[in-house]
Amino acid sequence: MSSESPDELNARESVLVERQYAALGRFDEETPDIYRRPIELPDEVHQWIAGWGGRSLFLTGAIGVGKTHTAWKTCRRWLEAQYGPGQPWQGTPIISAWRSTALFDALRPDAPDGEGRVLSKKLQKVDLLFVDDLAAARPSAWTQERLFEIFDERYIRRRPVIITCDVLPNQLSDVTGPRVASRLAEMCGDSIVLLEGPDRRQGRAA
Ligand SMILES: Nc1ncnc2c1ncn2[C@@H]1O[C@H](COP(=O)(O)OP(=O)(O)OP(=O)(O)O)[C@@H](O)[C@H]1O
Ligand SMILES: [Mg+2]
Repeated sequence: MSSESPDELNARESVLVERQYAALGRFDEETPDIYRRPIELPDEVHQWIAGWGGRSLFLTGAIGVGKTHTAWKTCRRWLEAQYGPGQPWQGTPIISAWRSTALFDALRPDAPDGEGRVLSKKLQKVDLLFVDDLAAARPSAWTQERLFEIFDERYIRRRPVIITCDVLPNQLSDVTGPRVASRLAEMCGDSIVLLEGPDRRQGRAA
C-alpha cells in the first residue's frame, strides 16, 4: 500500500502534468512559425495516431500539397496522444526533426569531432524521428551507412519515424540504399498517406 497521503499523490500528479505540458511547449517552440498554424489532418493520419502500435508514417505527394506542415502537426498530435496530460508518465519524450539535406550533412565523415557517429547513435534512440523531404538529396555511400545504422536500430526496436517525401518508399533505394528502403517499407506498412491537390503556395501567391 502507498504510504503517500492524497495531497502528496495530487502534488506528484500535478508535477507530472506540468512536465507533460512543458514537453509539448518545447516542441511548439521548435516548430517553425509557418507550421504552427492549425490545419485539418487527413483521416488516415488521425487513424495512424489513434491506432499507433509502433508503426511509422510515410507522407507523400507533389510539391506544395502540405507534406511538411502535416508532418509537424502529426508529430504534435502523436506527442499529445502518447505523452500528453492524461497519459501515464513515460519520461520526457525526445522528438528529433531534420530536413534530409541538413541530416546528410551532419552525418558526413568529415563532420567535426566524429559528430556524425554521435548523432547517428542519438537518432537511433529518440522517441520519434521526423525526416523531411527524404529524397531531396543523395547521400554519399558513407552517409548511407549511417542512415542504415539509424534505421536498422529503429526498425529492430520498433521506434517510429515520420517521413515526408515526393516519391514512394519503393522508389527510395537510390537515395537511402536498398536496405533502408526495405526496412522503411515494413516499418510503414500500409501507413503511407498520399496528399493530393494543388500546390498550396501558388494559391497563396495569387
Ligand atoms: N492542410 C493545409 N491547410 C492549409 N494550408 C496548408 C495545409 N497544409 C499545408 N499548408 C500550407 O501550404 C504551404 C505548403 O505546405 P508544405 O510546406 O507543407 O508543402 P510540402 O508538400 O511540404 O511542399 P514541398 O514538397 O515543396 O516540401 C505552406 O504555406 C503550408 O502552411
Ligand atoms: Mg516540404
